[in-house]
Amino acid sequence: MRHPLSPLALLLLVSSVTQAVSSVTQSAGHGKSVVLLDPQWVRVLRDDNVTLTCQGDYPPGANSTHWYHNGTRISNQASSYLIQAARVEDSGKYQCQTGLSTLSDSVRLEVHTTWLVLQTSKWVFQKGELIRLRCHSWKNKPVYKVTYIQNCKPQRFFHKNSEFHIPEATLNHNGSYYCRGLIGYNNKSSGTADIIVQDPTAPPSIISPFPPWHQIALCLVVGLLFTVDTGLYFFVQRDLRRSMVAKKEYNFKWSQDQEK
Ligand SMILES: *[C@@H]1O[C@H](CO)[C@@H](O)[C@H](O)[C@H]1NC(C)=O
Ligand SMILES: *[C@@H]1O[C@H](CO)[C@@H](O)[C@H](O)[C@H]1NC(C)=O
Ligand SMILES: *[C@@H]1O[C@H](CO)[C@@H](O)[C@H](O)[C@H]1NC(C)=O
Repeated sequence: MRHPLSPLALLLLVSSVTQAVSSVTQSAGHGKSVVLLDPQWVRVLRDDNVTLTCQGDYPPGANSTHWYHNGTRISNQASSYLIQAARVEDSGKYQCQTGLSTLSDSVRLEVHTTWLVLQTSKWVFQKGELIRLRCHSWKNKPVYKVTYIQNCKPQRFFHKNSEFHIPEATLNHNGSYYCRGLIGYNNKSSGTADIIVQDPTAPPSIISPFPPWHQIALCLVVGLLFTVDTGLYFFVQRDLRRSMVAKKEYNFKWSQDQEK
């Protein structure tokens, strides 16, 4: 009978195999493709123009690019994708892939239909990064007396509309922001935009909104193998013990028979 690996040995084996696999996949490829926005804002207004560019490696002579909007392939195959006069339907997640690079992370774009929008270049910032805030109006109509507000507290006032820069974000800059100002004689306000500032040196938060599914799947597989193997281990041990008991009984019987 084949003796199964002990549960611990199996666990070690699985983890070293998965480590080897992931280091191979990381070194063999040309890295991930990257979606870049121009202008850089992730929140835009209806009728704005946005150019998405795919950065990645191409095989010689072949520069076709795959683009995905909310996971669905779109027909554009150029390295850039122009959204002209954006519509609400253009909102969502964009990904791209060049011939030699792997699928990019997704970039989320939001198209709003308000008079003003508070624009940022990212959804999540790391501590120490520059945060650029822009109070952008529909069709770039002039805005005056612009106030940037964080968590209901006015932070900065500009008589003539300007960007508000936070040169080095701290955790205190995490919060809910909006801007307001005058378009003509009308007092207009943007919707609120949550800006998340993370501390990269802090331990990773457990409530990550996007769990790494492949890791969870791996854990499940390892857990399953562990359970199966442990079960097998005890089953075999019990079997072994039984057969030893049986053998003893047999020997005992045999010797008893002999004595008769
Ligand atoms: C978008 O591009 C078109 C054509 O170039 C231009 O007419 C329009 O003003 C642009 N939209 C904005 C909001 O700048
Ligand atoms: C950061 O700001 C967001 C949005 O306002 C809020 O939901 C979250 O609780 C804040 N996180 C911290 C650590 O303050
Ligand atoms: C817009 O209205 C708000 C509240 O109604 C007021 O506090 C603010 O001063 C006004 N802003 C401008 C630029 O007039």
